[in-house]
Amino acid sequence: MSAPKPQGFATASIHAGYDPDSLYGAINTPIYASTTFAQNGLNELRGGYEYTRCGNPTIAALEKTVAALEGATYGRAFSSGMAATDVLLRTLLRPGDHLIFGHDAYGGTFRLIDSVFAEWGITYTVVDTTSTDAIAAAITPDTKLVWLETPSNPALAITDIAAVAELLDGPQLVVDNTFASPYLQNPLALGADHVLHSTTKYLGGHSDVVGGVVVTNSAKLDEELAFLQGGAGAIPSVFDAYLTARGIKTLAVRMDRHCDNAEAIARHLQQSPKVKAVLYPGLETHPGHEVALRQMRRFGAMISVRFHDEAAARAFCLATRLICLAESLGGVESLVEHPATMTHQSVTGSTLEVPRDLVRISIGIEDLDDLIVDIDAALAEVE
Ligand SMILES: Cc1ncc(COP(=O)(O)O)c(C=O)c1O
Repeated sequence: MSAPKPQGFATASIHAGYDPDSLYGAINTPIYASTTFAQNGLNELRGGYEYTRCGNPTIAALEKTVAALEGATYGRAFSSGMAATDVLLRTLLRPGDHLIFGHDAYGGTFRLIDSVFAEWGITYTVVDTTSTDAIAAAITPDTKLVWLETPSNPALAITDIAAVAELLDGPQLVVDNTFASPYLQNPLALGADHVLHSTTKYLGGHSDVVGGVVVTNSAKLDEELAFLQGGAGAIPSVFDAYLTARGIKTLAVRMDRHCDNAEAIARHLQQSPKVKAVLYPGLETHPGHEVALRQMRRFGAMISVRFHDEAAARAFCLATRLICLAESLGGVESLVEHPATMTHQSVTGSTLEVPRDLVRISIGIEDLDDLIVDIDAALAEVE
């Protein structure tokens, strides 16, 4: 008999990480709502689990699924993307270390580094990560970590992951893969050391659960993450782990529909005289288009739009009806927001400041025609 073929992505998102349980054959991962696990003898565990803060079968199933989708050996789940970021930074950095990250990184990541880690003696340099020269110039003997977001939030800039990995000799490379999802991009295969997801976004996919996951091929890092997972306790609830795993089962079909809608809407927006620029890596005019073609399967469903001034950007955000004014992204429903006053307010006055004429749209999986009717009606209200 020939060896089994490796599973495709959609198959793995449904089956990897869980086999129907031996007791009742439940097709779905059971929600093991149990803080503790009965033992056969003193410290003799029955199924490998002891106490849920240090490990739980529902959480472990989610971790295995995300690891499989990223082609990683190990995965660790946390109560939010920021909890995952915090634990990963605490694991990789020590006082005196230096890290490099992008000038359009997620505002919450910047705030955590600038207000918490800087206090503990970690220094940082903010660069345009799309330029490997800029990264190379920022490296010091203390640099331990380069943190990338690609596509970035909210400028949708594309950084060449393989080129940055190639450049680094010593510092580790972390990619926040939240905007792409593992369906569109697998940073470990491109040379990254570790990958982070806010599972709150595309992985969960239904705007009903907050979470984060870190995946890696490093047994050492995984052990250190596991220590802090149990030791500091930023684990997801088992209910949240279940919901996230349930969302992941439809990731492939959702992402294709997200991308279909976004590709059409980006081109549609480009034709409006009310719009100054459309930032979407799928457009041939996007400066990162060639790199995106190489490292992503499709271009994602986040679109940023620059209007002619801030008043126009605000007017558009207030004028959509179907596309709801709200923070976050990656859910089945389309959302619009004004980063300068909403998600990225915390970077005002810093080198990460976002243009005030920029609007970010998370394109959902509604009918394309309905989204276009809503967008056109909102554009008509923009001066
Ligand atoms: C790119 C990116 N990384 C990390 C986070 C933080 O994730 P969470 O909100 O799940 O803590 C976000 C949240 O918006 C994000 O957009």
